[in-house]
Amino acid sequence: MLTRKLHIDPINPDMGAIAEASGIVKAGGIIIFPTETVYGIGANALNESACRRIFALKGRPSDNPLIVHVSSLEMAEGIASIPAEYRDGIRRVWPSPITFIAKSNGTLQKAVTGGLSTVAVRMPAHPVALALISECGVPIAAPSANPSGRPSATNPRRAISYFDGRVECIIDSGAAFFGIESTVIDLESFTVLRPGPFTPEEIEKAFGRMPKVDAVTRGMAHSGVAVSPGVKYAHYAPKTKLLLFSGDIGELTGLLDGIQNLPPFAFIGSAESCKAVSEAFGCSTIALGDRPDLYKIAKNLYDGIIALDSLNVAFGIIEAFEERGIGLAIMNRIRKACSGTSFNSADGLSKILEP
Ligand code: TXA
Ligand code: MG
Repeated sequence: MLTRKLHIDPINPDMGAIAEASGIVKAGGIIIFPTETVYGIGANALNESACRRIFALKGRPSDNPLIVHVSSLEMAEGIASIPAEYRDGIRRVWPSPITFIAKSNGTLQKAVTGGLSTVAVRMPAHPVALALISECGVPIAAPSANPSGRPSATNPRRAISYFDGRVECIIDSGAAFFGIESTVIDLESFTVLRPGPFTPEEIEKAFGRMPKVDAVTRGMAHSGVAVSPGVKYAHYAPKTKLLLFSGDIGELTGLLDGIQNLPPFAFIGSAESCKAVSEAFGCSTIALGDRPDLYKIAKNLYDGIIALDSLNVAFGIIEAFEERGIGLAIMNRIRKACSGTSFNSADGLSKILEP
């Protein structure tokens, strides 16, 4: 299939191009479009067969439901029951990188909700996404535009490398603004199911209530029961084995020095740490940004993880970041990309590297 590529300015979208894109969605096509977090792979949420195709394209398990994107609170209320007590708070925060889990009103098919009684709704803060949804006049169901398990596409190049020739249309509006997926919050328990750019502190400000954040959310524990279906699947992983160094970064080079026959490895981390590690070992490094600039680190994280696979090394080491603000989301994604494998001592690393 020939994929139609549409260049659309991210801030002042051309309405002619938006009309063409919405025509593709209304005709039942699949479209890859920008949001402020990552690129989404979407379809008319009311078109069951188009939504099923999204699962097939991603290789996504059918019990992992899609986020439904809306352009107004009214559109959200057409598919979900938003509790009255949260309506003002949601009005205050939307559009923004925050997704709410609310009771479904039965309008959406199983292909979207995975058979759950709840639905994930989000109003994205991206002019192109908002214009597209409102021009379509229907909610757009869209997971992140990546094959299941792989890092999300934060730019159109990545989305093209994943899906060119298999979807009807890809919109190119340059890099997504945040580069990390939206915060998911369950309204019934007021719990953060997935940390994202919208931080618990900001949620508290808007709702007058601090959401719960548990160990599963931090990516430190695996839930037996899937609170959010997505949490039980592997995520964001490179093909190369990736290990989290959870100790004090000042001790990493000394620790690596103590290991005999260390196979070739690469280091992913802040610019400061990359400099120190490359000076000590001359190994390849992937710098994500300056250490204090957590938004930059978040934005470069997935491309950094993907770049590891082109370096021809036995494994990668990634450093830990402060779990403050968006740092919570960064560490959640890193722990998942490492499938929970971390070390903080020479012994710990040797054990992991044992054949
Ligand atoms: O930023 C984002 O949220 C991006 C952009 C494209 O909007 N979308 C995204 O979608 O990350 P996806 O499908 O990759 O992640 C959706 C997450 C999954 O972990 C899924 O399990 C969870 O939301 N989810 C969806 N519906 C749910 C529900 N009813 N209850 C609990 N979790 C749900
Ligand atoms: Mg995803």
